[in-house]
Amino acid sequence: MELKIFEDYTKLSDAAATMVIECIKNKPGAILCFASGDTPKLACQLIAEMAKKENINLSKCFFIGLDEWLGIEPENTGSCHYFFQQYLFAPSGIDRSQVHLFDALATNAEEECKKMNRIIEEKGGIDLMVVGVGMNGHIGFNEPGTDIDSISHVALLDEITKNIGQKYFNQTVTINKGITVGLKQIMQAKKLLMMANGKKKAPVIKRAVEGEISIDFPAGLIRRHNNGILMVDTEAASELERM
Ligand code: F6R
Repeated sequence: MELKIFEDYTKLSDAAATMVIECIKNKPGAILCFASGDTPKLACQLIAEMAKKENINLSKCFFIGLDEWLGIEPENTGSCHYFFQQYLFAPSGIDRSQVHLFDALATNAEEECKKMNRIIEEKGGIDLMVVGVGMNGHIGFNEPGTDIDSISHVALLDEITKNIGQKYFNQTVTINKGITVGLKQIMQAKKLLMMANGKKKAPVIKRAVEGEISIDFPAGLIRRHNNGILMVDTEAASELERM
């Protein structure tokens, strides 16, 4: 795993967006899978800006949403759907035909998972996976203890995720379950970019980088990825031994 430390959130976001743009330049039909959340927000906006400025054609690439809160409608401003539309698809002019997101309202969530698995397989896997990291070390909604061989699945969210997840919503919501791409698919991505910023992520990054590698803390699995890059700002890196 490569560790890159940036002075601040803006520089971190700029580097992450540059990596995405470079991936698309090298492979216009790249398959990209993104997390939503506070961490990649600025990077998503910068991707749109960079693509416009450099006249990059985004019409051939394909976007997969890493996860979604089960039962939350796409219009809800706290949903991952809303995030992607607002910060990535609309500003970048990405058409819905180039996108696959979990349908959080599907009557059969298991079928939704199968659909996602099929799409990832048919597309030949994910070229670049961009993830954040939860305060409990989750990646996507792969909570601590998730099977390393998991593919897309419905996840029971743990208390930390349920509580922290409220920050995305205008009103208190019941979020007991999530639907997520699995750890196996994340680990099989050709490139895995994990991002973290801010002081509150410092203990999480310390454990991911210096702790035991185990499914009890999924973020640490990035160290087992043969093309894993961890990008953090100085605040998130502040508890690392080498700092
Ligand atoms: C969201 C997702 C989550 C977040 C993580 C960090 O789509 O996959 O795993 O990446 O909870 O969230 P933020 O970035 O809001 O700190």
